[in-house]
Amino acid sequence: MNEAIISLADVSYRYPDGTDALTNCSIKITQASKTAVMGANGAGKTTLFMHLNSLLRPDGGKLLYRRDPFDYSRTGLRDIRSKIGLVFQNPDNQLFSACVREDVSFGPMNLGLPESEVRLRVEEALKAVGMQETSDKPVHNLSYGQKKRVCIAGVLAMRPEVLVLDEPMAGLDTLMQMELTAILDQLQSEGMTIVIATHDIDFAYGWADEVLVMQNGRLLAGGLPQEVLNSSEVQMELGGKPFVAEITSSLALIGIDLRDKGKLPVSRSELLLAIGDYSFIQRRT
Ligand SMILES: Nc1ncnc2c1ncn2[C@@H]1O[C@H](COP(=O)(O)OP(=O)(O)O)[C@@H](O)[C@H]1O
Ligand SMILES: [Mg+2]
Repeated sequence: MNEAIISLADVSYRYPDGTDALTNCSIKITQASKTAVMGANGAGKTTLFMHLNSLLRPDGGKLLYRRDPFDYSRTGLRDIRSKIGLVFQNPDNQLFSACVREDVSFGPMNLGLPESEVRLRVEEALKAVGMQETSDKPVHNLSYGQKKRVCIAGVLAMRPEVLVLDEPMAGLDTLMQMELTAILDQLQSEGMTIVIATHDIDFAYGWADEVLVMQNGRLLAGGLPQEVLNSSEVQMELGGKPFVAEITSSLALIGIDLRDKGKLPVSRSELLLAIGDYSFIQRRT
């Protein structure tokens, strides 16, 4: 098991209007993991994410990057924001330049990198999200899905170690969700830590290495998706169960055991494969 890349210890945050959004929240995010952050609306996911790249600063408790406490000085902020990139839920809150290339250049230019390095990073980032062809387009002419990709490219151009995305699948059609998942998986396979907020239990069950469930500004449960998302307390909080787990346990009730070497299917494709294997074995015996 890899070590934690980001840790929160007893972090509390109150908005100026008096709302307690995080209350003694303690969380660990494992390096190079795919982590899904879940929880009802208002549970504190977005507030947590804004702490991760220091847009908000805790009223109590502390955040650590590896073993180092977050440094809120000017240089410290620059450093943490280049290591932990945040993609907002709404791309219109993130994009502000006239054209795609200009928007993606903004971050690396602000790091004070030489022009040739900025150009290289921008090309690389646009390529990673499949947007090279669109780099001269005005941002306001892009579709929602394209805007989302440009936001991700803007963050990737900073070459972060951790990519944090607030409900990235919301508003995307099924195909675009699959494409985005492939992009995130590719980045994670290259060693990046990926943290996303999602309401999609089935997606989290099949995709994540770890699931963190928030409730009223603190962690309700965290760990392996198969453990966390099959707990009745978590299911009650999230208002649902993983569909694949429901099917698997219904089939078990009628004597069909889909376990393969003790492992249960976690995604639709694994479920279909397991059913195929099961019926193949039945026909042969
Ligand atoms: N700018 C704000 N001012 C006051 N309260 C806020 C603000 N943003 C969020 N909140 C409150 O903080 C709590 C946590 O919200 P949020 O972090 O957005 O949760 P989530 O992303 O899980 O839906 C909620 O009670 C919400 O109403
Ligand atoms: Mg939110």
